[in-house]
Amino acid sequence: MFYDTVSYDHGLPHDPVKAIVAPRPIGWISTLDGQGRVNLAPYSFFNIFASRPPIVGFSSEGMKDSVAFIQESREFVCNLVTYDMRNEMNATSAPLPRGDSEFEHAGLEMEASRLVKSPRVKGVAAALECKLVSVQELTTFDGQPMDRYLVLGHVVGVYIDDRCIRDGRFDMTLARTIARCGYADYAVVDELFSITRPLGGG
Ligand SMILES: Cc1cc2nc3c(=O)[nH]c(=O)nc-3n(C[C@H](O)[C@H](O)[C@H](O)COP(=O)(O)O)c2cc1C
Repeated sequence: MFYDTVSYDHGLPHDPVKAIVAPRPIGWISTLDGQGRVNLAPYSFFNIFASRPPIVGFSSEGMKDSVAFIQESREFVCNLVTYDMRNEMNATSAPLPRGDSEFEHAGLEMEASRLVKSPRVKGVAAALECKLVSVQELTTFDGQPMDRYLVLGHVVGVYIDDRCIRDGRFDMTLARTIARCGYADYAVVDELFSITRPLGGG
């Protein structure tokens, strides 16, 4: 089958595109606004774009609280969601009034970060403490603004739960971080395989 994104004539009950670009890691973004109010929400349009120094980013479909808070405080934390916190993560995606704490709403505890003021979620496998690099409104190929915002952050601190390290590596089969697939589906990695890259690569 084939469809174009003018007609969206795919004949399927749901748009399949998010199931194609999957599985996606979930950045569970904790932020503070200028008044110190806390916010927490999951974003699966989330990834790493450079490694040293690490640059990570997420995209918001509309000007959501996470982006508005980051624009005020210029920092954020990307918590990595584990399988045992999946229901709490889902609860924090509820559209609460701006300023209401999703930590409280989902029964989660905060833990202080080291290098930014935004707290991390207590109990996560890893958390990336970020300083804001940019917030960019996405456009279509012909320059139409989309009301979609790409937030890039420079990771200044990396928290890892020591229990997730085995043989000197962050082991995601121990961490059981979850990933977003299409529809209401998620994945967790139970098994890994390795391929060694050819020599001379960057
Ligand atoms: C697993 C998961 C992934 C999500 N990913 C995104 C995303 O990448 N971009 C987005 O705009 N909303 C995403 N959402 C929806 C937001 O979490 C939701 O709109 C939330 O209320 C935004 O909160 P905020 O306004 O406090 O930032 C996702 C929801 C879930 C459950």
